[in-house]
Amino acid sequence: MATYINEPAHTFNEYLLIPGYSDTNCIPANVSLKTPLVKFKKGEKPAITLNIPMVSAIMQAVSGERLAVELARNGGVSFIYGSQTPEEEAAMVARVKAQKAGFVPSDSNLSPENTLADVLALKAKTGHSTVAITDDGTSGGKLVGIVSSRDYRVSRMDKSEKVKNFMTPLEKLITAKYGITLSEANDIIWDNKINSLPVLFEDGKLYGFVFRKDYDSHQENPNEMLDAQKRFIVGAGINSRDYEERVPKLVDAGADVLCIDSSEGFSEWQKITLNWIHEKYNGKVRVGAGNVVDRDGFLFLAKAGADFVKVGIGGGSICITRETKGIGRGQATALIEVCQARDEYYKETGIYVPVCSDGGIVYDHHITLALAMGADFVMLGRYFARFDESPTQKRTVGGTVVKEYWGEGSNRARNWGRYDLDGSKKLAFEEGVDSYVPYAGPLKENVEKTCAKIKATMCNCGAITIPELQKKAKLTLVSATSIVEGGAHDVIRKEKDGSDR
Ligand code: IMP
Repeated sequence: MATYINEPAHTFNEYLLIPGYSDTNCIPANVSLKTPLVKFKKGEKPAITLNIPMVSAIMQAVSGERLAVELARNGGVSFIYGSQTPEEEAAMVARVKAQKAGFVPSDSNLSPENTLADVLALKAKTGHSTVAITDDGTSGGKLVGIVSSRDYRVSRMDKSEKVKNFMTPLEKLITAKYGITLSEANDIIWDNKINSLPVLFEDGKLYGFVFRKDYDSHQENPNEMLDAQKRFIVGAGINSRDYEERVPKLVDAGADVLCIDSSEGFSEWQKITLNWIHEKYNGKVRVGAGNVVDRDGFLFLAKAGADFVKVGIGGGSICITRETKGIGRGQATALIEVCQARDEYYKETGIYVPVCSDGGIVYDHHITLALAMGADFVMLGRYFARFDESPTQKRTVGGTVVKEYWGEGSNRARNWGRYDLDGSKKLAFEEGVDSYVPYAGPLKENVEKTCAKIKATMCNCGAITIPELQKKAKLTLVSATSIVEGGAHDVIRKEKDGSDR
């Protein structure tokens, strides 16, 4: 007879945290969001520790090289998508590893049609005197010039003067091509006695700047995830079909950690893949596995040697797996069960296998809930797809600025490695949709705000580290009516900002 679980499986939205006692030490400045990315033995340190508990999803619309660099700069790790050829994926990883700290995305951007008044207002806001002038006024637009304090004299100029009339135009600027190393960039700065060097993609779009004053960008980005050679840490997705060809290329390219990307991880294929990697590399290449949604799935992968285990089936924002196949589980219930199994496994074996909650994070506070339920870090797709650095196009649809976001199980992604069960390299049916998400600006700003919220809630729960939160958290299920009570209600909202969740 089939096994029945008659308790409903719950989602993050059905839980709230109950504040605990917080002493005077519980202030956001004292909170550490450090968390293990890979397994470790009791008393030892994990080989890789994340500085913030966030990794980006193994998806075409999310984890390209630009996002990977920016997320590593801000404390997390990206997993470059595997739904491309092994050569293309390895080349992406290699390009991330070629970037060192010191390349800064432009945070002050205007268009040629803006005015001196706009320049002054922006300078007052950011404190930075170099403003990139791009065709669309964003950090990812085509560079057409630069305005620095040498380009204007406030006392002699009309504040309504257009930027295009006093900027230093592109043809007079010294620029570098994307792919240049930091030391080459620094040489150009010194040789030409300039203060900033714009770095451009092949098509003229702005990648970022290297600043003379920024030799030690680590001071601006204290959370940077760097390897021993000060290169950014980056992960890469693999599958259980072509791993013999793909893994060596990714390892040679410098990938720091791999992850088997599958919608269903409780399978012999994953065990075979893990065995092959561990044998070939003598346990030195770190590789996560998943996805599972229960204790049995977790124990299977932990015993098979997974370095971390991903939890989640059917909860992703673009996912229609539950509709098409009728498999999955409410993310909160799945996570709670898996984390209990992780703790028992740790007690028995002395090996701590981090758990990643993958998919279904809608609001920032869902991240805190996932951590409180025992997750060591979360994987996000929709969240990162909204930012400047994601690989997709920005568009205006019905008056709203959006970015494209599509599932790996959609026809658009053609990710047969993740979804094809019989090796036919075809998708028999779709498990994901093609969609838009509201554009939300630069990654750094958004991640900083999200982390500020996580830290504030942790303080309310009397915890200044993630392990402490996991131990002290008090969680309550909420009724359907109290969910309504939790939002603004019985008032007429003046404005609703869809980007700020
Ligand atoms: P999100 O953060 O809610 O957007 O979910 C992202 C997660 O959804 C990814 O990390 C994958 O685990 C999962 N996912 C990606 N593409 C698909 C798909 O096409 N169908 C089902 N799940 C998907």
